Amino acid sequence: MPVVALVGGQWGDEGKGKVIDSIAARANMVIRYGGGDNAGHTTVNPYGTFRLHLIPSGIFYGNVRCVIGNGVVVNPAVLLREIAELKEHGISADKLLVSDRAHLIMPYHTLLDRLEEERRGHGAIGTTQRGIGPAFVDKVARTGLRVGDLLYPAEFRKQLQSVMEQKNALLTSMYGHPALAVDEVYRQYVSYAEQMRDRIADTLPVIHEAMQRGDMILLEGAQGALLDTDLGTYPFVTSSSPLAGGATTGSGIGPTAVDSVIGVFKAYATRVGGGPMPTELKDDMGQFIREKAGEYGATTGRPRRCGWFDAVAGRFSVLINGMTEVALTHLDIFDGFSTIKVCTGYRVGDRVLKEFPSRVETVAECEPVYEEFPGWSECTEDIDRFSALPANAQAYIRTIARLLGCTVTLVSMGPKREQMIEVRL
Ligand code: IMO
Ligand code: MG
Repeated sequence: MPVVALVGGQWGDEGKGKVIDSIAARANMVIRYGGGDNAGHTTVNPYGTFRLHLIPSGIFYGNVRCVIGNGVVVNPAVLLREIAELKEHGISADKLLVSDRAHLIMPYHTLLDRLEEERRGHGAIGTTQRGIGPAFVDKVARTGLRVGDLLYPAEFRKQLQSVMEQKNALLTSMYGHPALAVDEVYRQYVSYAEQMRDRIADTLPVIHEAMQRGDMILLEGAQGALLDTDLGTYPFVTSSSPLAGGATTGSGIGPTAVDSVIGVFKAYATRVGGGPMPTELKDDMGQFIREKAGEYGATTGRPRRCGWFDAVAGRFSVLINGMTEVALTHLDIFDGFSTIKVCTGYRVGDRVLKEFPSRVETVAECEPVYEEFPGWSECTEDIDRFSALPANAQAYIRTIARLLGCTVTLVSMGPKREQMIEVRL
C-alpha cells in the first residue's frame, strides 16, 4: 500500500482539505508535515462544514490515525480549541498524535509576526499573523522550544527564560512593546502540557511501523508550491516547505518511500496576501469568480485575489514537486462561462517566457499571454463520471493536463465528498 504525498500546486487554498477527506477513506494514517495554523483546510462531510488549521483532514474517519508531524509548528491553544470543536460535533481526536519534535508557537511569535508586518508597511508580506515565520526563525536559529519540551517542565522553564530575555529585548528596543512576563507564559504552557500530554510522542516508530505493515499513508500538505521558501515568490512566501520534498523531512519518511505525489490545483488561480500573481484579474471577472466561489480566506477571512489558470506557474509546480498526478478542483465555477482563458506564457518586454522566473521583480513584470477555450453552459455539480461532463469541460481538463505535462486523475465540482470524479485520460 502506498505512501501518497498530497501537495498544493498553486498559492494555497486549492481544496486540499476536500481531496484529503475523500482519499482518507482508503488511508490508515494522515500526517500533516509542514506549516502551522496558517493553513485553513475546509471539509464538508456528513458531520458538517469544518475549517481545520492544524489537525489533519483525515480525522473524520474513526479508523484513520492522524499525526501532526515534526515539520509542523504547533500553537497549543489552537490545537486544543480544534480538538474541543471536533468533540462538540461528535468527532473523536483520540487517534491524534503530535510529534515531540514539532516546534511550538509561543506568544512572542504571534506578537512579533504582527509587529514585523506593521513595520514592513507597504512591503508587508500579508502573513496570516499566526506566528509562523518567527517560530520557524527560532527553529532554524536553534532557539525554538519543541512540543516534547513540554514534558520536562523544569528544563522548559530554563529554556523559556533564556529565549524570552532575547525576545523581550527585541520587543522593547525594536518595537517599543512592553516585555512579556516569563511566568505567565510558563504557566500557560504548563497547562497546555497537561491537556496534550497523552498525544505527545516520538511519532517516527509509529510511522515506520505503519509503513512496514504496508499501511496507506497520506502526507497532507499545507500552503502551495509557490509559497515555498526556496522556490516560491520569495520573499512573499511562507516559512516552511509545502513541497513533496518538505513532506519527507517534515514527516520522517524518506523520499524513496513516497509512491505518488498528487498536486491539487484549482481550475483557476487564487492568492491571498502580498506578492505577484501574473494572472490576477482586478476587474469584474475577478470579482465574479471571488463571489461565485466564495474566495475568502478560511484562516483570516481576507478576500482572495482571483485570476485565470496559470499554466507557466503550474508546470513549474509539477516539476519542483515531482507530481505524478493532478487533482483539479472547483471546475463547477466555470459552469456558464462562454470562454475560459489559460495563461501559457509570460510577456516581459519583447520576450515571452515559458519558465517561471526566479526573481520576484520579474514575476511582477510578467504580462500573461492567454489562450482562450470555449466554456459550457451546463451545471456540472451533480455529474458523476467524466464521460457525462460537457465536451468543453472534458477538453478543458485535457488542456490543463497537457499544459502541466501531468495526468489529471481527480476532478471536483463542489465542496461535498461525493462531488468528485475519478478520471483516466
Ligand atoms: P492552506 O493550507 C493560502 C500565505 C499568507 C501570506 C504568506 C505568508 O489553506 O492552503 P504566513 O502566515 O505563512 O507567514 O504567510 O503565505 N499563506 C497561505 N495562503 N493558503 C494557505 O494555507 C496559506 N498559508 C499561508 O497569506 O501571503
Ligand atoms: Mg486554505
